[in-house]
Amino acid sequence: MVSRRTVKTLPGHIAIIMDGNGRWARRRALPRQAGHRAGIKPVRNVVHRCVERNIHTLTVFAFSSENWERPVEEVKGLMTLFVDALRREVDELHENNVRLQFIGDRSVLNSELCAATVAAEEKTRENTGLVLTVAVAYGGRWDLTQAARELAREIVAGSITPDDIDEDLFAAHLTTASLPTVDLLIRTGGEKRVSNFLLWDIAYSEVYFTDVLWPDFTATELDQALESYAARQRRFGRTSDQVGPS
Ligand code: FPP
Repeated sequence: MVSRRTVKTLPGHIAIIMDGNGRWARRRALPRQAGHRAGIKPVRNVVHRCVERNIHTLTVFAFSSENWERPVEEVKGLMTLFVDALRREVDELHENNVRLQFIGDRSVLNSELCAATVAAEEKTRENTGLVLTVAVAYGGRWDLTQAARELAREIVAGSITPDDIDEDLFAAHLTTASLPTVDLLIRTGGEKRVSNFLLWDIAYSEVYFTDVLWPDFTATELDQALESYAARQRRFGRTSDQVGPS
């Protein structure tokens, strides 16, 4: 249960590194793809809990720039799973007023997945509830690099000068520009690293690591992360005296 106190201090933006599908499958002597398939249900559970709790932004890391290095069969299996999941889930997300969007290098996705992402975005564009962003072929360094490239182009074109670049202008060129910065970053699966996820956006995030493997992550596990978040004092570089009682 989320306590009354917690409800007052919910994160506005939760980002999740969904790790542990492979180990979940190995423990059951199943192929890795079975672990990835089992990773769909927790996404549904987390989305529903966020809608229930009025959390307005959720971003999940589905496939990183580095995941292309995995065995070809696993990559193919993941791409097929994403297309199938998207086609299956988009209507229900739409009924729940969820706005679905994607970040990452879409130019490297196969045409089927690319089309499915565009269709899902178009269908849910006007929705005003939870903003669910799925990072596919995404890397934090890729995002920073493409922002720098775009700014350089604008300088060459004469529309800005180097002195115009400040944090706000830089952030406006990231693919996450429309999202608030991340309040709570969750990583499942026991590893304690950020793996090139939203580097700029997590500068002052609270981080919650759990050993629970992603396919076992439930709405109750999310509640535990929310409890942990609510108990923290966010100082953003200031002292605890300046910030006041937590
Ligand atoms: C990591 O587990 C998980 C991924 C590579 C992401 C795939 C996520 C899903 C299939 C969930 C569905 C998501 C959406 C948005 C449809 P891993 O393979 O790294 O696990 P391991 O560390 O145990 O090997």
